[in-house]
Amino acid sequence: MLGRLPGSSNQALVVLVHHVELTEPFHAVYKATAAERPLFDFPPGTLARREVAAFLVSEAMGWQLVPPTAHRDGPFGEGMVQQWIHPDPEADVVAMVLGADERLRRMAVFDAIVNNTDRKGGHLLPVPGGHVFGVDHGVTFSTVPKLRTVLWGWMNERLDTEEIAGVERVLTALDGNLGAELRTLLARPEVTATRRRAAALLKRGRFPRPGRNWPAVPWPAF
Ligand SMILES: Nc1ncnc2c1ncn2[C@@H]1O[C@H](COP(=O)(O)OP(=O)(O)O)[C@@H](O)[C@H]1O
Ligand SMILES: [Mg+2]
Repeated sequence: MLGRLPGSSNQALVVLVHHVELTEPFHAVYKATAAERPLFDFPPGTLARREVAAFLVSEAMGWQLVPPTAHRDGPFGEGMVQQWIHPDPEADVVAMVLGADERLRRMAVFDAIVNNTDRKGGHLLPVPGGHVFGVDHGVTFSTVPKLRTVLWGWMNERLDTEEIAGVERVLTALDGNLGAELRTLLARPEVTATRRRAAALLKRGRFPRPGRNWPAVPWPAF
């Protein structure tokens, strides 16, 4: 264990992972379930598994939006461990969000599928080379529509061919391995709702619009 992430509401820790198959250790984030702050709108003790589920959906889409994330036992008990991303110090996330940078489109598609209720600017990590990772997916997969995000730059616009293909890949995966894996991490209705969201997104073929019954933008936004 190296230290705590200041400001983390779930006592996220930075750790060094020594993996038997690797010669060098690597940095990671470790969020123990025991340290989760209870929320009014998510069952207690479920956030770490939601983060793993979000990683699996990202993998199924084929876009590597979420850094490798696993459910593991750790010094403070079971929780999630996620590879540490070293963001590009030159990148300007605020400008990317406000300018509706094309590189964030896929994240918006992903968020619509996982029903992300906390896509803040600080949860977008651009790395050297141009790729953008997303982190902090503990409050996802609710059965209730509650998309809350800073990524509204393409609302109601048509999904492009590659984005449609990504949604189709998730739907196919949900009917196979991904569906089975998600059922070990989420409640069954949450997996069903995920499939429904992906199918609806594909049918409509457009980026979502803000809902009426839920604040559409997180606070603070960045
Ligand atoms: N995998 C990661 N790589 C690099 N930085 C991260 C990673 N995960 C989180 N962070 C940083 O730590 C901050 C706090 O982590 P976050 O996941 O938001 O914790 P919490 O669950 O408490 O909200 C994030 O806003 C981000 O800046
Ligand atoms: Mg956070």
